[in-house]
Amino acid sequence: MIKGFIFDLDGVITDTAELHFQAWKILSDSMNWEFDRELNERLRGVSRMDSINIIREHNNAEVSEEKLVELATRKNEIYVDSLNQITPKDYLPGAQELLTLLRQESFLVALGSASKNSTKVLQQLDAVKYFDIIGDGNSVSKSKPAPDIFLFGAERLGLKPEECIVYEDAEAGIDAAKAGGFYAVGIGPEERVGHADIRFDSMARATLFEVKSHFNELF
Ligand code: BG6
Ligand code: MG
Repeated sequence: MIKGFIFDLDGVITDTAELHFQAWKILSDSMNWEFDRELNERLRGVSRMDSINIIREHNNAEVSEEKLVELATRKNEIYVDSLNQITPKDYLPGAQELLTLLRQESFLVALGSASKNSTKVLQQLDAVKYFDIIGDGNSVSKSKPAPDIFLFGAERLGLKPEECIVYEDAEAGIDAAKAGGFYAVGIGPEERVGHADIRFDSMARATLFEVKSHFNELF
């Protein structure tokens, strides 16, 4: 039986994916590195240091480990600054309604995000109240596609993976959910999250009603 839900943050609860893009773009421009939306797609769900390595590799740039950390830190400063513009109006359509309904129906809810800035984003949205457990980039060391962040959330909720549904917008995130034995709801296009148990184009479509209908026998 499904007793809990675990949510990714960026691209599921709110569209911070765009703010990550803007920050990486400013950093890349300052290095004269090529960085576009196509490359940005490959960073979805990927940790900060893995992201900078993907950008460096794409540009065939030789950079010391120390410099890479410095660049990632600079990107993060730009990103964190931009988070101040987020308000409770910035939930992705459908996300707040779903979180409210889950509270009303007494499901357990955890966050399972790769971001070390998750708490700041949730505070800006005034969304902390919807979560029983916050699992983020500080909670585990192995990032998605490893299942660790979702296993952390389930364990803290006191649930088994098969009692939880994971919402994810990243290819690596769906991989992580499946590797951990969770049910997975994919948000986004077929080519990105088509390997989820069920896929929706947007959060607006991924309602509790639709999910319950799909996993009927588990509720
Ligand atoms: C993920 C995002 O949620 O968090 C990635 O999809 C991001 O784009 C990663 O790189 C790490 O985030 P942060 O805030 O710790 O740099
Ligand atoms: Mg995401």
